[in-house]
Amino acid sequence: MSLPQLIMLPGPTNVPPRVYAAMCKPMINHRGAEFHDLYARMLDNGKKVFQTENDLFVLTSSGTGGVECAASNILQPGEKILVPVGGTFGERLAGAFKIYGAQVVELKVEMGFAPTSEQVRDVLNREKDIKAVAVIYNETSTGTTVRDLPEIGRAAKEKGALFIVDAISVLGGDDLPVDRWGVDVCITASQKALATPPGLALISVSKDAWAMIDRAKPRTEYFDLIKYRKFRDEKKETPFTPAVNLFYAMDEAFQMILEMGVDSWIMRHKKAARAYYAAFKGMGLSFFAEERSRSTVVVAVNMPPGISAKDLRDRLRKKYGVVVAGGFGNLKDSIFRIGNMGIVTPREVITTVSAVEAALFELGYLGTLGSGLKAAVPLLADL
Ligand SMILES: Cc1ncc(COP(=O)(O)O)c(C=O)c1O
Repeated sequence: MSLPQLIMLPGPTNVPPRVYAAMCKPMINHRGAEFHDLYARMLDNGKKVFQTENDLFVLTSSGTGGVECAASNILQPGEKILVPVGGTFGERLAGAFKIYGAQVVELKVEMGFAPTSEQVRDVLNREKDIKAVAVIYNETSTGTTVRDLPEIGRAAKEKGALFIVDAISVLGGDDLPVDRWGVDVCITASQKALATPPGLALISVSKDAWAMIDRAKPRTEYFDLIKYRKFRDEKKETPFTPAVNLFYAMDEAFQMILEMGVDSWIMRHKKAARAYYAAFKGMGLSFFAEERSRSTVVVAVNMPPGISAKDLRDRLRKKYGVVVAGGFGNLKDSIFRIGNMGIVTPREVITTVSAVEAALFELGYLGTLGSGLKAAVPLLADL
């Protein structure tokens, strides 16, 4: 028997049937009227989900394409950018700006902790001429979210620096009012809290960001934002062939999120996160991230002594059909990570918590069953 697995990864996530169904519509001309309507509606709805009046673009690429788009368009070689680094995706964000010649000032943060606004202010006061601050809002590798994001944005603005946020694993799954928090460039991807298959990156661009982008000639063909703006304004099209079926899916997902309401969509993630944290705590487990910075969308749990994440994950997948992630690099076997994103209902939470509990019982860590569910179920009363 081959049953679909429950994909509890920090992306890609489980995709709602109506979003899959939307993908199966027939092909259309990507230079024709139907596409023009689709793209215009999708950008309008996407802006509501981003909570922004800024420009929004949809790129046919994974999230990294969105990061590369920001890195190749905004700064000129030699210009300084501050990037807090507390995990794999912080390293990659810093690395992308380095590839395009920026002078990257890294603020090293201990893994499991998030950069604070004081730390960022210190660097901004010390280093002259920082042109931009780029932050990973949710460090997916460690399940750590930057709770000071709005203050960090204010600190950047006070110094006249652009505020760039990689929200790839979190937009839709936690608070991120892009305009209210002064985010100039916000990047996300389809396969996380927007409940769509992988393959699209989304990037919002403010007036201040355009002022930086418009200073010089493009240094990228595929991710040239000036070209994306021109094609959108003149034709309601993308410069290159878009992944039309993924656009159908994203369009459907945005409609679904707006029907529920952006706040409610986000709130579901918060409620489910509370249940996960309570359940694992109930099982006597601890978390990789410090309490204040624990992520709503990626629950990173320390493995109990003597049990490897690989054994736990294998058992979860093979016996219970629940797929969870391990850690990155040297955390590979010492943590497991659950993606709480996309479809978030009591079914995902209860199935995952029960499967983890059963597997940890079978692996000899838990002596009795029920502690996780006992903690989680009351918190799911209104999910
Ligand atoms: C915070 C963050 N940035 C960037 C990426 C890279 O995105 P992608 O794998 O879609 O290219 C990810 C993917 O998990 C991520 O979580």
